This record gives sequence, C-alpha cells and structure tokens, in this order.
Amino acid sequence: MIKTTLTRFSPLLLLFLCYLNSFSFAASAPFLDCLSSRKIPPQQLANITYTPKSTNYTSVLQEYIRNSRFNTSTTPKPTLILTPFLESQVQDIVTCAKISGIQLKIRSGGHDYEGLSYTSKSNNPFIVLDLFNLRSIDINLEDETAWVEAGATLGELYYSIWQKSKVHAFPAGVCTTLGIGGHFSGGGYGNLMRKFGLSVDNVVDAKIVDANGRILDRKAMGEDLFWAIRGGGAASFGVVLAFKINLIRVPPEVTVFRVTKTLEENATDLVHRWQYIADKFDKDLFVRVFLQTYAGEKNKTSVRASFIALFLGDANKLVALIKSGFPELGLKKEECKEISWIRSVLYFADYPEGTPETALLVRKSAFPSASKMKSDYVKTPIPKDGLREALNRMAASGNIWMQFNPYGGRMGEIPEAEIPFPHRAGNIFKIQYLVIWNEAGGAAVEKSNIENLSKFYQFMTPYVSKNPREAFLNYRDINIGSTDNGGDAYEKAKVYGIKYFKGNFDRLVQVKTKVDPTNLFRNEQSIPTLRK
Ligand SMILES: Cc1cc2nc3c(=O)[nH]c(=O)nc-3n(C[C@H](O)[C@H](O)[C@H](O)COP(=O)(O)OP(=O)(O)OC[C@H]3O[C@@H](n4cnc5c(N)ncnc54)[C@H](O)[C@@H]3O)c2cc1C
Ligand SMILES: *[C@@H]1O[C@H](CO)[C@@H](O)[C@H](O)[C@H]1NC(C)=O
Ligand SMILES: *[C@@H]1O[C@H](CO)[C@@H](O)[C@H](O)[C@H]1NC(C)=O
Ligand SMILES: *[C@@H]1O[C@H](CO)[C@@H](O)[C@H](O)[C@H]1NC(C)=O
Ligand SMILES: *[C@@H]1O[C@H](CO)[C@@H](O)[C@H](O)[C@H]1NC(C)=O
Ligand SMILES: *[C@@H]1O[C@H](CO)[C@@H](O)[C@H](O)[C@H]1NC(C)=O
Ligand SMILES: *[C@@H]1O[C@H](CO)[C@@H](O)[C@H](O)[C@H]1NC(C)=O
Repeated sequence: MIKTTLTRFSPLLLLFLCYLNSFSFAASAPFLDCLSSRKIPPQQLANITYTPKSTNYTSVLQEYIRNSRFNTSTTPKPTLILTPFLESQVQDIVTCAKISGIQLKIRSGGHDYEGLSYTSKSNNPFIVLDLFNLRSIDINLEDETAWVEAGATLGELYYSIWQKSKVHAFPAGVCTTLGIGGHFSGGGYGNLMRKFGLSVDNVVDAKIVDANGRILDRKAMGEDLFWAIRGGGAASFGVVLAFKINLIRVPPEVTVFRVTKTLEENATDLVHRWQYIADKFDKDLFVRVFLQTYAGEKNKTSVRASFIALFLGDANKLVALIKSGFPELGLKKEECKEISWIRSVLYFADYPEGTPETALLVRKSAFPSASKMKSDYVKTPIPKDGLREALNRMAASGNIWMQFNPYGGRMGEIPEAEIPFPHRAGNIFKIQYLVIWNEAGGAAVEKSNIENLSKFYQFMTPYVSKNPREAFLNYRDINIGSTDNGGDAYEKAKVYGIKYFKGNFDRLVQVKTKVDPTNLFRNEQSIPTLRK
C-alpha cells in the first residue's frame, strides 16, 4: 500500500519519509502530499508539522492535554499535529484535509472534558490542527471591543484588558487556562453571567475558515452560520480564527467572599435555602455553591458547602443584600474583601493572595489529574430530603463533588433561540458533577470513579430537568450519546443534540447541511448533516 502511494509523493515528502517510515504516518501521506503542493515554503511546512517521529511530537501533543485520562500510552494519537502561525496556513490545512479525507480535529486550549480536540474514540486516523500560535489580542478601548484569536487563553484576555483599563472586563470562565476557541464557541460562562450573560452573548463578530478554505467574517458568513458558532460548538462548522467581543464595564472595586459550612453547621439547610434565592438576587450578585467531600471528624468522609460570591459593588451593600435575601448565611462584613476586578479573577481561580497578575499569563495548569464531568439543570428546588440523601451519597462514594451555578438575571432575559445555547429562563441553577483522581491509580480506579458518578447521576434524575434532561455543551459528556461505532449518524446525534441544544438542534442541522455538506468538520459529538 505504501508503495503505490509513494509514487505520488513530492520530493519534500520523500525527504520526510527518509526518517519517517511508520505506518500511521502513511495515513496522513495524501494530506501532506497536498499540503506540500500548496504555496507553503518547505521550511515553513517543516516548522508547523509534527509527525510521531518528530523529537517534539510528544511534548507538543501533551502541552495542551488537560485530562490525564487521555494522556496514556494507549490513548489514540494524531498521525500529525499542525501548528500554523499564519491564517493562510490554516486555509491550506483545511483544504488539504478535505481533499485527502482525513479527519481533522481542532484544538485551542485543550480543555475538552472528553479530549475530543486531540484524541479519538474510534480507530480512524486523524490529524490535529493546534491553534496555540494564533493568540494575539487587540483591545480597542475607543469602541470598547476586542479581537481575540482562538489560541489565546482567558487569562491572557483578562490580563490584556486589565493592562488597558481597570474598569473593563469580559464575562467568561473562571479557569484562566481555557482556550478562547473552544470556550466561546461552546457558550462560556463565569461569575459575571447573571449581569452580562455568556461569553457568546457578547460576541459581535468572528473570523472563520469554512469547509471551502475561505476566510469569512460575520458579514461574509451570514447570520445563520454566525448564529451556529455562538454556542453550537464551532468544531462542526469551521475553524474559528478569532472572535470580536464587546467589553463590559465593572466598578473599580468589586466584593468577594467565600463562606464554608460543614454539615454540623447546617450546610444542608443553607444549600436548600440558597435554591430559593440564588437566581432572584440582584443581577450584580453571583453566589455559587461548591460541595466538596473532606476528611471530617475521626477522618470520616463528610461534605462541606462553600458559598463563593462576586458582587459588583461594595461590601456594605453586599452585606445588606445577603441580610435581606439570605439571612441564614449570617454573612459578616469581615468575611468580605473589596478588591479590583482583576484580583477577583485570581481569587476565583484559587490563586493564593498576593499572586502577581502575571500568573494569568501562565498557560500550563499546575496539577495534572484525571477527571470525568457531567451536568444537569435544576428548575424546581431539590427538596431537603433529596439534598440530604445526595450529600450522604457524596460522602459514601468519597470522591464526587458538585458545583451549583446560579442562573436568573440576564440569563433569563435572552430568548432560548437567540443563539444555540438554550438553557435560559426557568433554570434556577446548573449542576456540575466532578470526579477527579490520580491516573496513576490505574484502570480500576478510573472505572470505579466513572461508575460511581454514573450511579449518582442516575440518583439525581427526579430532581433535574426532564424531556430532555438538559446538558451543557462546554461540559462535554460522551455518555449522553455519540456518533461513534457507526449507525444512523442523524438519529444518534439527535440524542445528545436535543440535550445540549433543545429546539435549536434542528436549525444547527440545517446550517450544517448548508455550509459543510460533506461533513469535513466532524467529531464524536458534532452536528450531523440532514439525511438525503
Ligand atoms: C479546569 C476547567 C475549568 C473549566 N471552567 C469552565 C468555566 O468556568 N466555564 C465554562 O463555560 N466552561 C468551563 N470549562 C469547560 C470549557 O469551557 C470547555 O472545555 C471548552 O470547550 C474549552 O475550550 P478549549 O479551547 O480550552 O478546549 P479544546 O479542547 O481545545 O476545544 C474544545 C472543543 O472546541 C473545539 N474547538 C476548539 N477550538 C476551536 C476553534 N478555533 N474552531 C473550532 N472549534 C474549536 C474543539 O475541537 C473541541 O470540540 C472548564 C474546563 C476545565 C478543564
Ligand atoms: C517557525 O516560524 C515562526 C514564525 O515564522 C518563527 O517565529 C519560528 O522561529 C520558526 N521556528 C523554527 C524552528 O523554525
Ligand atoms: C523542540 O525541541 C527542542 C529540543 O528539545 C527545543 O529546543 C525546541 O524549543 C522545541 N521546539 C518546539 C516548537 O517545541
Ligand atoms: C502527561 O504526561 C506527561 C509525562 O509523560 C506529564 O509530564 C504531563 O504532566 C501529563 N499531563 C497530564 C495532563 O496528565
Ligand atoms: C443549625 O440549625 C439549628 C436548628 O435550626 C439551630 O438550632 C442551630 O443553631 C444551627 N447551627 C448553626 C451552627 O447555625
Ligand atoms: C487521618 O488520616 C490521615 C491520612 O490518612 C492520617 O495521617 C491521620 O493520622 C488520621 N487521623 C486520625 C485521627 O485518624
Ligand atoms: C465508589 O463508591 C464506593 C461506595 O459506594 C466507594 O467505596 C469507592 O471507594 C468509590 N470509588 C472511588 C474510586 O472513589
């Protein structure tokens, strides 16, 4: 097989082949053949191409792996990694992926919870287009906008805004290493969401490379495609090069607190009560709940609840708001900190006090670990009995954590069909379920953690949204359905598509069918084309 394709190779490829005769490489040979026939000069091509035999292949691959579950010797790996510096190189890569038919995965920050940006659940060969070299940020304070390239991180964006202005900000995630490309195109939420909505609610333009290798801005792509890439997961539609965002205004000082209560301190009652107020608070106030297991009295595993807040105002006003809406928390002014917005970013990301702002520019995450996440939406408060039982089960399993993120405010004002993200009015909060472990524990530990989480998710069924049981795209969960292992792609996609997008799924399919009829941009949970 190698012999027959060899004859079509360009001289450059033969050069590559001198030290690269691995079989997996052969799968990407037609792709490389195509690439070298385009205008890219050979040195440039060598500079952006990593094959499994390249010295730096493993380090480049691992640089943006954020889940040790997909960092093992048996994890399926790309036959090539492409790291373009130029937009024209992205165009060439897309065009050649289409011509050669090889699957193209797109990676920005690499945080996908199922590793879909850099691994595969099937045995088909694939290549990775890694955007970390495209990460410039251009802030324009005159019209309060910015262009942000897909490979930039949230930390870089926050830092760049802060350098230019102490009263501007952007509503996006709390973890500062998230990539713009995946985070925005999947929705993107953080502690400013109750006042300003999601990241994508504040995106006003975008630059993408479409399935025909063209660079299109909002005007050129049209409103349907621009709608789809704001929350529908851009990976089904094209490669996002950059987004244009509207900056938002924050006061020079904001207020934060973190109050932690154990079960003995009535954590269950407080969390129960929180459900009746969290989505109704003033829009300027965001109070999330983090439920964690810990070694309690006599080392018996217990659960504690942390109430973590950001308020766009001063401590006196915050204490008054909590006193009238949530007096049970007993918040004291001494528990509040008045700090600048950029310090609140570091505070929420759990950096120790005094950490310099330059920490936001660190792209590597400090503690590699394996994890599995799931999500749910809650529309009526979980009764106290249910909550108590949930906390008991968390303690029994020892490793399940939950985060409750309040909705309401701006989130409830935006219509469900405005963008593909459909979880708007009627949601009190979203649950994120987490299990995190050390992958060194081996396959049995991994299996036990995932099974425990799955049982817990089952237990939560009566308390969360139904028909569909909604899920958040950015909290990717392969267990709610995928198009792996063949079968009718449309029917299989509908299963997860309705959960992630509700009624917007149909429109996403229509847009997909129009802009990418050959399904070049595909992964295990992408939007399918309409059946012929
Ligand atoms: C530690 C941690 C904390 C998190 N915190 C939050 C949070 O606070 N709020 C929140 O909303 N989410 C959060 N998430 C989820 C996060 O938003 C998603 O995982 C998001 O998709 C990450 O984007 P990425 O670019 O880093 O990931 P990637 O793995 O690079 O990409 C994710 C998906 O987007 C696609 N994609 C990436 N770049 C592009 C592009 N340029 N064009 C087209 N498609 C692209 C990929 O192919 C993949 O399907 C968190 C995740 C982690 C691991
Ligand atoms: C690759 O190209 C980039 C951009 O032109 C350049 O900055 C970098 O030094 C090059 N690296 C190598 C190894 O040639
Ligand atoms: C590749 O590896 C070499 C040697 O380990 C290193 O000097 C160089 O910076 C690496 N280049 C990239 C792009 O990672
Ligand atoms: C992946 O493995 C390498 C060692 O092979 C390690 O340095 C890196 O921290 C790991 N990353 C994750 C996320 O597990
Ligand atoms: C917990 O609630 C009980 C009953 O409402 C009350 O008597 C007790 O003081 C509370 N404990 C704490 C630490 O708030
Ligand atoms: C609790 O567990 C830790 C770590 O396993 C151990 O070092 C410690 O001695 C234990 N304490 C008690 C009171 O059992
Ligand atoms: C799974 O839950 C059981 C209790 O049901 C517990 O004993 C076990 O340790 C848990 N597994 C892991 C990996 O935490």
